[in-house]
Amino acid sequence: MSSYDLIVIGSGPGGYECAIRAAQLGLQTAVVEKWPTFGGTCLNVGCIPSKALLHASETYEEAGHKFGQMGIKVGTPSVDLPTLLKYKQQNVDANTKGVDFLFKKNKIETFRGVGRIVASGQVEVKDDGGKTQYLEAKAIVIATGSDVARLNGIDIDEKRIVSSTGALDFPAVPQRLVVVGAGVIGMELGSVWRRLGAQVTVVEFLDHILPGIDGEVARQFQRLQEKQGIAFRLSSKVTAIDTSGKTLKIKVEPAAGGAATMLEADIVLVAIGRVPYTDGLGLEAAGVQKDNRGRVLIDEHFRTNVAGIYAIGDVVAGPMLAHKAEDEGIAVAEIIAGKAGHVNYDVIPNVVYTSPEIASVGKTEEELKAAGVAYQVGKFPFTANARARTNLATDGFVKILADAKTDRVLGVHILGPDAEALIAEAAIAMEFGASSEDIARTCHAHPTLSEAVKEAALAVAKRAINM
Ligand code: FAD
Ligand code: NAI
Repeated sequence: MSSYDLIVIGSGPGGYECAIRAAQLGLQTAVVEKWPTFGGTCLNVGCIPSKALLHASETYEEAGHKFGQMGIKVGTPSVDLPTLLKYKQQNVDANTKGVDFLFKKNKIETFRGVGRIVASGQVEVKDDGGKTQYLEAKAIVIATGSDVARLNGIDIDEKRIVSSTGALDFPAVPQRLVVVGAGVIGMELGSVWRRLGAQVTVVEFLDHILPGIDGEVARQFQRLQEKQGIAFRLSSKVTAIDTSGKTLKIKVEPAAGGAATMLEADIVLVAIGRVPYTDGLGLEAAGVQKDNRGRVLIDEHFRTNVAGIYAIGDVVAGPMLAHKAEDEGIAVAEIIAGKAGHVNYDVIPNVVYTSPEIASVGKTEEELKAAGVAYQVGKFPFTANARARTNLATDGFVKILADAKTDRVLGVHILGPDAEALIAEAAIAMEFGASSEDIARTCHAHPTLSEAVKEAALAVAKRAINM
């Protein structure tokens, strides 16, 4: 039986970064992965392929709508879907092979197959051919991620009724696409196929879209999406889909119950969330406890109730985000190696990669109100930012929420161009306990989009210059 200091089950962003950090710290490390390629959901069917589709479809829309305004003539652009999907897959392949390379470079041993915890310190690996191996280790990290949440009574065949995975690979642009769930996946992938030519209707259970995002940001974002052509059916639920005909007939009922209406579509994308994935892991037999939502239960040091077994990433509580999984992976490797690993859950940025993008870190206004915290708001619109105007990207604003007494930054919410990059400044500021005045007094290059962040910080003290 091969013996290690650490066995990581799952090679997503949580698992692979954990393994690399452990190897850097001198631990003999092995990774068990059941998929043919490394990188988990994020690299294979999540972050990377979706961002490739977003980038390509946004470039297509810019070529059709913005190039002309800047005096660039390219004729009417058209979409070559097979090549677009090939470009997406090349990105996926480069990234998954990159993980392969990093494992070899760091002398991490890899095992293909389903990992099952036999007991503390013992893992069985069963490959596709039924071959079984047994490994042992001083520590085991569960990094098995998450899976698509399903709608009761509705079968996802990944052809006509798809999850995000199917929606990354349509063989043709659907004429009509119904998206169930106005969350991150619904908005990102719904907007991709809308730009590529589909008529998109989003059915959302709640009376607002993007739960968890600052309300003002979500409302303005919804208006922009409607202007771009996406239709919304809020406070509604899909209760049945008739698949017998050529087109799908979708039964939509008010969330609170009542008379149903019908929608027709070629494809339905079910994007109602994700659930922790622990199938076949043997947790019950090993005595590892889960919480009431099926997540592996851990303490603040990522320890389960069974000695030597830890868990991180989507399979435990917290936001299902790649960078949260990565930071937990690194922290748990450091803890196992006897160091002081730590994740600051108050400063985890969140980005929705739509057009315009949404990026946020820290508390929303709704959260501050609910907690009874007195705060000041500083807001600055991109229409007043010179660089946004040159880039023909003026939709949105930056909003900074600062403590009314201490001026400490409590939350930053950006709707607008390159919000994904701008939010890093806010995260660093918050990590260092900055006040809005600290951001306002920091010299920002001109002309940049980041000046909108500085102006929003100035606006907290009601002294924005360009507004
Ligand atoms: P995963 O990435 O899910 O990896 C788990 C791995 O464990 C998988 O490879 C799986 O095969 C393996 N595994 C499971 N069970 C076993 C077993 N018993 N034995 C062996 N191997 C096993 N997050 C972002 O931060 N930014 C984004 O832009 C973003 N975009 C996304 C887009 C989509 C369409 C989706 C679906 C998700 C997106 N996410 C994004 C979320 C992100 O993908 C996850 O938060 C992240 O992948 C979680 O990492 P993880 O390591 O916990 O698990
Ligand atoms: P989500 O939790 O973001 O959104 C699901 C939406 O579906 C919610 O608005 C919810 O109210 C709605 N819903 C739930 N049940 C419903 C029903 N029966 N009918 C209609 N609506 C219903 O989940 P999503 O979009 O599936 O994404 C899953 C996870 O993947 C998220 O937690 C997210 O963190 C992660 N992700 C992150 C991305 C990013 O960081 N950019 C991109 C894509 C996914």
